Formats: sequence, C-alpha cells, structure tokens
Amino acid sequence: MIKVMSVFGTRPEAIKMAPLVKMLEKEERIQSIVCVTAQHRQMLDQVLAQFDISPDYDLNLMKAGQTLTSITNGVLEGMETILKQAQPDIVLVHGDTTTSFAAALAAFYLQIPVGHVEAGLRSFDKYSPFPEEMNRCLTGRIATLHFAPTERNHRNLESEGIHENIFVVGNTVIDALRMKVNDDYLFHDEKLRQLPLEKGRWIVMTAHRRENLGPRLEQICRAVRRLVEDVPDVHVVYPVHLNPAVRNTVFPILDGVDRIHLIDPIEVDDMHNLLKRAYLVLTDSGGLQEEAPALDKPVVVLRTETERPEVVEANKAVLAGVEEGKIYQIALQLLTDAKLYQSMVASNNPYGDGHTSEKIAQIILNFFTK
Ligand code: UD1
Ligand code: UDP
Repeated sequence: MIKVMSVFGTRPEAIKMAPLVKMLEKEERIQSIVCVTAQHRQMLDQVLAQFDISPDYDLNLMKAGQTLTSITNGVLEGMETILKQAQPDIVLVHGDTTTSFAAALAAFYLQIPVGHVEAGLRSFDKYSPFPEEMNRCLTGRIATLHFAPTERNHRNLESEGIHENIFVVGNTVIDALRMKVNDDYLFHDEKLRQLPLEKGRWIVMTAHRRENLGPRLEQICRAVRRLVEDVPDVHVVYPVHLNPAVRNTVFPILDGVDRIHLIDPIEVDDMHNLLKRAYLVLTDSGGLQEEAPALDKPVVVLRTETERPEVVEANKAVLAGVEEGKIYQIALQLLTDAKLYQSMVASNNPYGDGHTSEKIAQIILNFFTK
C-alpha cells in the first residue's frame, strides 16, 4: 500500500483537492490519508461536508486576525507531529496558500516527497498575489512531483531549472465542476433560492485578496454600485468572504443597494450552479478565473496581474485592474456590446477535460511502482 497524505486548509484548496481525494480513496493500492490545517474553519467545513470527506487529522488552526507567521508556525509544528505519526510515502499539497507551503516544508524536513498539485503558475511579481506567488514558487522548489495544469505552467517550471517529474494534467477544479453542475439544480442556500434569477442579467462577484484589502476593495465596490445604478436590468450577487477585513469594507458600500445581494459564503455546488446562471463574473479569486470560463461566462478580473494568463489570452477574461473607473468601463462594455460579449463566450477553456484527478492518481502509482 502506498500511503498518500493530502494536506489542505482553505476553501479553494479543499475544492480542488476533493475530487483527487475521492479518486485516491477508490484506488485499492493507495491508502488515502487526509490532513486539514483548518487555516479556514467554516469555509473549509462547508467543502468537506459537501464532498463527504472526514479528515484523519485536523490541526484546527484558524484564529481571528491570524498572521502569515502564525499560520506558518502552526502548520510547521502541527505537521511535524502528524507526519511522524502517520509516516506517509508522499504528501500532496495544492497551489499557493500558506498551508501548502508550510506543509510542504514540514514534509521536506522529514525527507518525505511532496507532490504539488496546480504547480507552475506564475505572475512573476513577488508581491502580487501576496504571499501566494512566493508560496507557490517555494513549494515548487520543494516538490518532487509537479502536477501542472497547462503547458505554460510546465515551461515556467523548466525556466526555473526544474526538469524532472513535471506532468501537464489540467486542473482538478474542472473535475469538481463536472461532478456538480446541472440544469435542474435546486439551490441549498435559502437566500439564493429566493433570488429572482430568471429576471434581468446577473453578475456573480467575489473579492477577498489580501493585496486588495482596504482602498482597492473600496474602489471595486464603488464600481459595482455605479454599474447597478446605471444599468437597470443588472443584479449582483456577492457571497462575501468571512474575513472581517473584507466584510468591514464591503457592507458599508454595498449593503442595502437595490439589486445588490450580499450573502454569506455558499456551498460549492451552489456556487458552481450560480455561475452557470450568471451573465458575467467579477472576481479577484483564482478559482473563479478557471471555473467561469469553463462554464462560458466572461470574467472581469479585479487584479493588476494574473498567474492565469491563459484565460486572458483565450479571450475568456479581461484584466481590469483595481481602479473604480476602469472596472466600471470594462464591465459596462461587456454589458452593452453584445458582439464583444459573444466573442468571449465562444472560446475554449484551457484547463482540461475534467479528468485531472485520475491522471494524478495514476502518476503517483507509476512513481512508486517503477
Ligand atoms: C487564504 C489564502 C489565499 C486564498 C484564500 C481563499 C494564504 C496566505 N491566503 O486567504 O491564498 O485565496 O484563503 O479564500 O494562504 N475566516 C473565517 N472563517 C473561515 C475563513 C476565514 O472567519 O472559514 C476569517 C478569519 O478571521 C481569518 C481571516 O478570515 O483570520 C483570514 O483568513 P486567512 O486564511 O488568513 O486569509 P484569506 O484571505 O482567507
Ligand atoms: N466559492 C464557493 N463559495 C463562495 C465563494 C467561492 O464555493 O461563496 C468557491 C469558488 O467556486 C472557487 C473557490 O471557492 O472554487 C475559490 O475560492 P476563493 O475565492 O476563496 O480562493 P482563491 O481561488 O482566490 O484562492
């Protein structure tokens, strides 16, 4: 039996690791072990419940006002004990969070190989996204197996001198989408059920990034308020991240505005099916930049850079920056220029066919049986 330990801690990692965990559980030559750090608590538990995953280990780390240092320390110390006890043959981490980097480092200190899922994305700006760009680079240095979503991600790793064990496999987020989206879907969230989604055009919005907190998030919110005021058939639904630093900015600007609906974070099935019904997506989230294009929804990216340039090049997304006027103009154009809108719906999704988890499981088996 090959002992494979998947470690994750935040909502997006959980969503993207869940299809892989499910695949590993099915594989009889693998013993799948799940360890959550709970860098997020409620938002992580929502995903665990939805995918019916019961972690074998839970560091239960989340604290209000947690800092990067406190998360890193908590993961490093907590993982050391767990890794010594469980003695996995390989540790899988995902993407670019502090959980991912610190868990990879903890495994490295015990000389346990690391598999990096969603490897090789780069913005080439150390401070944006912060600290995710550096988390991802450092995890890449530590990892033995690199599961890269695209050829570009593969090239990025090669350009850093990493040449072995890079596998282009697509993104597991498409696997998660494939599992859940359907036309007859009934929303679980009571507030979502009550929204008049059949009326008008709906923008699904999220914004939470650390580098956008404060004045940039204010500008984003003001742009959205102007849009709704100026385009009468537009409605906005915004599931607001639980971080108080996000909520304290968003609610004063957007709460109570006609046709803007602020709701709590929703389950991922609800989210995916909401995206399916959207006209346009405004976001600074990484995951949404991958999911919306796969559902043929144009994305306005509320950031100055992206480590996912594939979606911009494929004409699935526009990089709008973080200034009120620019965001307003770009979104308005997409709402008023039908030809432009259609051109963005028509192109291909760059993240694979939804069979990424199978490929990763197979590669792990091959690695240990060669
Ligand atoms: C983290 C990741 C970011 C990822 C994001 C996804 C790092 C450094 N950041 O950022 O890459 O895009 O998750 O959402 O790893 N909170 C709750 N309940 C929850 C989750 C969060 O109350 O379920 C609140 C807590 O007060 C917590 C705060 O949000 O202290 C911030 O959480 P944290 O994980 O530190 O930062 P994120 O911005 O969520
Ligand atoms: N998501 C969700 N419920 C919400 C908001 C987002 O399930 O209320 C999902 C979304 O579909 C995507 C992931 O969470 O799969 C993105 O997570 P987040 O924006 O927190 O992080 P990022 O992708 O920026 O790292």
